[in-house]
Amino acid sequence: MSVKQERRDFIGIAFGAVAAVGGAFSLVAMKKTWDPLPSVKAAGFTTVDLSPMKDGEMRQVEWRKKPIFILKKDPNSPANDNRDIKIGNDRYTVVIGLCTHLGCIPEWKSSKNAFICACHGGEFDADGLNVFGPPPRPLDIPPFKIDGTKLVLGETGPEYNKLVGKA
Ligand code: FES
Repeated sequence: MSVKQERRDFIGIAFGAVAAVGGAFSLVAMKKTWDPLPSVKAAGFTTVDLSPMKDGEMRQVEWRKKPIFILKKDPNSPANDNRDIKIGNDRYTVVIGLCTHLGCIPEWKSSKNAFICACHGGEFDADGLNVFGPPPRPLDIPPFKIDGTKLVLGETGPEYNKLVGKA
């Protein structure tokens, strides 16, 4: 091998090494950009104090741009341990308010004790179970955590894991 040839090989190897190191640094920089910032993560939570709710009252809140239905069940309505969120002696239905058929937003009709979807006539009972029409499954339960009388949407607590394990 000529001196010239050796020199060219050395330059090639050195250039490759610099490129590899540079690549590693830019990967670290990219990873920093990909990792969500704590504030962004915090923005994914919605906290709702359930203590002012009255029996039979339905509220709608927003979590990650999705409608969430919170229904404080009337004490006379039947308990459903597979779906109810219990806080003290009170029971709540908490579901994502998007029809499991094609994603319309059903409406709570207290007179029928049901969520009615106007798009194709689907119906869900007060527990969010599909009881009529084309919806193929119950309304989904969003990840949540109970913190005293507060519902924290977006975090998974033991109560959520229990319900999802049963579902
Ligand atoms: S989208 Fe609700 S019944 Fe079709």
